[in-house]
Amino acid sequence: MVTAQQQAVSIRDARETDLPEILTIHNTAIAETTAIWDTEPVGLDERLAWWRTRTAGGFPVLVADIDGTVAGYASYGQWRPKSGYRFSVENSVYVAPGFQRLGIATALLTELLERARGAGTVHAVIAAIESSNTTSITLHEKFGFRTVGVLPEVGHKFDRWMDLTLMQLTLATTDVVDSGHDKVTFAS
Ligand SMILES: CC(C)(COP(=O)(O)OP(=O)(O)OC[C@H]1O[C@@H](n2cnc3c(N)ncnc32)[C@H](O)[C@@H]1OP(=O)(O)O)[C@@H](O)C(=O)NCCC(=O)NCCS
Repeated sequence: MVTAQQQAVSIRDARETDLPEILTIHNTAIAETTAIWDTEPVGLDERLAWWRTRTAGGFPVLVADIDGTVAGYASYGQWRPKSGYRFSVENSVYVAPGFQRLGIATALLTELLERARGAGTVHAVIAAIESSNTTSITLHEKFGFRTVGVLPEVGHKFDRWMDLTLMQLTLATTDVVDSGHDKVTFAS
């Protein structure tokens, strides 16, 4: 077992060569947790398309690199596709089971939110979390996310209904750069 003290964690942009390890983390979360509401594993082509779409859209895909091993990843993308939602993103963070509780998600979210603050196009960051996932809810609370709603019994996995907790962090964004539209200013 690697500890945070023994190995330096580097948070960096994901490369195409990281996708097999990202896929393993992703499919483990599908198979073992209620963090992702798929019930079947996805293939490398799905993760490749996801990574390409995110990066082409200017959204970050970050990995936690420990001595050449991808220990976790985090990203955000537009929350909903309609243009009125263009300043709202949904974030996600996953850490491989052998690397949890070492501060890796904290390091990933710290950098991800730095990117969001620096992007000039992000006002609301939304985390949609299965309601019994208190680990993730606690993690997001530490970054200032607050629960803004709970959708009861909107998911079903592992033979039970799942509630979805929506958490939101509103950034003190001013003078959001709004290419193609009128410039808008949000009060901080
Ligand atoms: C949720 C998850 C990303 C946390 O990653 P992590 O690297 O273990 O988290 P960290 O070590 O940075 O811990 C950050 C905080 O989260 C909380 N936390 C982490 N693991 C916890 C656990 N097992 N039990 C309770 N709280 C926990 C703690 O508040 C912790 O802060 P602390 O160590 O100061 O007490 C990780 O458990 C994971 O990938 N789980 C499966 C996928 C998932 O649920 N992703 C989130 C989808 S919304």
